[in-house]
Amino acid sequence: MKLSIIGTGYVGLVTGTCFAEVGHHVFCVDNDAAKVKMLQGGGIPIYEPGLEEIVKKNVAAGRLKFTSSTAEGVQESDVIFIAVPTPPQPDGSVDLSYIERVARDIAAAMTSYKIVVDKSTVPVKTGEKVAETIKRYCAAKVEFDVVSNPEFLREGFAVGDLMHPDRVVIGVRSQRPVAAMKEIYTPFQAPIIVTDINSAELIKHAANSFLALKISYINALANICEAAGANVQEVAHGIGLDERIGRRFLNAGIGFGGSCFPKDLSAFIKISEQVGYDFKLLREVQRINADQMERFVKKITDTLWVLKDKKIGVLGLAFKQNTDDVRSSPAIDLCQKLLKDGATLRVHDPKAMAKARPLLPEKGVTYLNDMHAVAEGCDALVVATEWDEFKQLDLARAKKGLTHPILFDGRNLFDPAEMEKLGWIYKSVGR
Ligand code: UDX
Repeated sequence: MKLSIIGTGYVGLVTGTCFAEVGHHVFCVDNDAAKVKMLQGGGIPIYEPGLEEIVKKNVAAGRLKFTSSTAEGVQESDVIFIAVPTPPQPDGSVDLSYIERVARDIAAAMTSYKIVVDKSTVPVKTGEKVAETIKRYCAAKVEFDVVSNPEFLREGFAVGDLMHPDRVVIGVRSQRPVAAMKEIYTPFQAPIIVTDINSAELIKHAANSFLALKISYINALANICEAAGANVQEVAHGIGLDERIGRRFLNAGIGFGGSCFPKDLSAFIKISEQVGYDFKLLREVQRINADQMERFVKKITDTLWVLKDKKIGVLGLAFKQNTDDVRSSPAIDLCQKLLKDGATLRVHDPKAMAKARPLLPEKGVTYLNDMHAVAEGCDALVVATEWDEFKQLDLARAKKGLTHPILFDGRNLFDPAEMEKLGWIYKSVGR
């Protein structure tokens, strides 16, 4: 099928590329001309495992093209996906101005029937507004359908999640666009749910909020485990084997971050408020998440006492493993808190150091390309992101480099008994 994707961020670029990978012809559109030029020249603006290879392959096959012209994308395709940012506003509600702008641009360029699909995460009832806007601004007065098709990909696993989705959600107002939508997704061999637009939009916020709730639940349990002398990982294993609960997203740590969960939670609380429901449960999820970081910082200060003039090594800056994304990263938040208390930092992240630099002050932070060098001369070491490679840290070398062998593990990567045997003062979460 001939498709275009408006917006070449994480969702747009990976979605467009995966559509091309299964044989569709895709135009990726972005109003950032420099980004389009970079992509046309073979550059990839984000780090996402496996993405570069399939971008190159599909560009070479002529199935994937980049343009900064929305009109070109619209005219060249039957189905247009909107994948632009929906950033939070200070009151937690969603800024829908990019969606509205794109809806107008699409309307202005439409000269024949089009299916306009919203892939961005939006509040319930946005589809109705998009339809109204297109109708109002479409000079050619052609027919169109609006569809909601939320995206569930995780950063760091985006290509795998897109190629093998758990489900595909398609929200429609009429049956007309259903066949085309099914044709787009048939190659992905996933269950396809066809529903109304409002339900499709709600599914996205409901899913992300539930996952965030799972994390806050296990973090709250971690605090009980610490107080009661139990091990949260054993508890997670024990409850997770119950298929109704499931083991995934039950890893305790320093809390969730990233560009989705914090924003989507705030948005969902706001949306609920607007329809007349006070979603107190989700406000508690937020509170537990914020509290989790404070508790971890307290663990550090309880042990090191005064942080002023202490040197601390930090492993991890990204909001989670396998990504260079530092938006709302708990690791960055932690670094800022330690710096504010007067510590200096030696930091390493496998992919996120370039994106972290603008967020941290220049003074007091040393960036190291080698994770094994981070501990040199430090008073303590901290694990802030769950990168797998941190498990391979040369513990003997780190121990020698530190003034005292103290490790604060915010992601439970090491085994407490093993660490104790090796002579470490080891503090993790919920164990
Ligand atoms: C999330 C959703 O998973 C995805 O379906 C949606 O499309 C976008 O939002 P993402 O933000 O990429 O994806 O990351 P995710 O893997 O969900 O992790 C979010 C945060 O939760 C990270 O900070 C991670 O470290 C944290 N987390 C995750 C935990 O602390 N414990 C866990 O058990 C799982």
